[in-house]
Amino acid sequence: MQPQSKLVVEHSAGECPIYIDSGWLPGIADAIGRSTPRCAVITDANVEKLYAAEFFQSLNQQSSQCVLLTIAPGESSKSLDTAIDLYQQLLSAGIDRQSTIVALGGGVVGDLAGFVAATWQRGIRLIQVPTSLLAQVDSSVGGKTGVNLPSAKNVVGAFWQPQEVYIDTKLAGTLPDVEYTSGLAEVVKYGAILDDHLFASLESRVEQLNRRDPQVLVDIVLRCCQLKASVVKRDERETTGQRAILNYGHTFGHAIESVFGYGKYPHGHAVSIGMMAAARLAQAMGRVDEDFVERQCNLLTALQIPTRFPAERHAEVIEVMKHDKKAIDGHPRFVLPRGMGHGELVEGVSPDKIADAMQRSAGGSK
Ligand code: GLY
Repeated sequence: MQPQSKLVVEHSAGECPIYIDSGWLPGIADAIGRSTPRCAVITDANVEKLYAAEFFQSLNQQSSQCVLLTIAPGESSKSLDTAIDLYQQLLSAGIDRQSTIVALGGGVVGDLAGFVAATWQRGIRLIQVPTSLLAQVDSSVGGKTGVNLPSAKNVVGAFWQPQEVYIDTKLAGTLPDVEYTSGLAEVVKYGAILDDHLFASLESRVEQLNRRDPQVLVDIVLRCCQLKASVVKRDERETTGQRAILNYGHTFGHAIESVFGYGKYPHGHAVSIGMMAAARLAQAMGRVDEDFVERQCNLLTALQIPTRFPAERHAEVIEVMKHDKKAIDGHPRFVLPRGMGHGELVEGVSPDKIADAMQRSAGGSK
């Protein structure tokens, strides 16, 4: 079966094709099975219940030597302990340097399985099959892999590009609301910092997005992957500041996740709240006008994504931001918009302005 859309991510070690369609999971398994004689499919218990049997059956019709390794769902599995469990299972299953790891799941599975692929036997082939919207538009593309420490997100990891990415947007269409809207927050992010046309097209397609129209999802996921591919091509290892732009809302967002405990705020919701604080910060610095802040707030709200900063624990959030990966000598850096569709990495922001932006975004605990 030929997927509806295809694009290519160019990177330092070659090219990674991304195939996108709706309702073609068995076709994905079939294509992977044909090119992959031995593999370990890493998934989580939720995805296993929904899709693993169908996926595994189609895979095994082509490829007889695949094992299924299942982790517990949730951010707490993105740890070195879980990676060690997986290494033991790869050893028992005879997964060698000619084998492939297939990540079948959302962002946690993709980041963890990618990290395991990057480190197992000094690196083996990786295929991403992202099942959440967030993973489809962001984390499965571009080669970032890693695990968390209890006190800091994504601080242990490696760049390891997948061989291929296969996206079935129908899977995103069946997610629980909280996970779907978490992915939509990352979609809005692309519009706000990289593509004003995308932003406007989201504004005009709120109703279709809220009912998860499959064709609209194929179009939107394709556009987000194109934007990400162009950023990765220019700054694969995040050394020039261009890739860091994709972290709009993430300085505040990661700190919220860390202070309130991973899982209380799903990643995309924390990013949404972070984007509102960043937009207000940008407004206070004269980079955007009130209209920008309102448009962003209205779109996120129409898509049923939270926007209000938790009213308590601001001091702790500020403290955590000092240790953000983008911080220099304890001074957080922020991705801030300059007009719709243009983000920039900004340093030297005054602590008063940061606190004020959080204050002005506050109200309501969730
Ligand atoms: N999620 C941000 C990046 O891949 O660079």
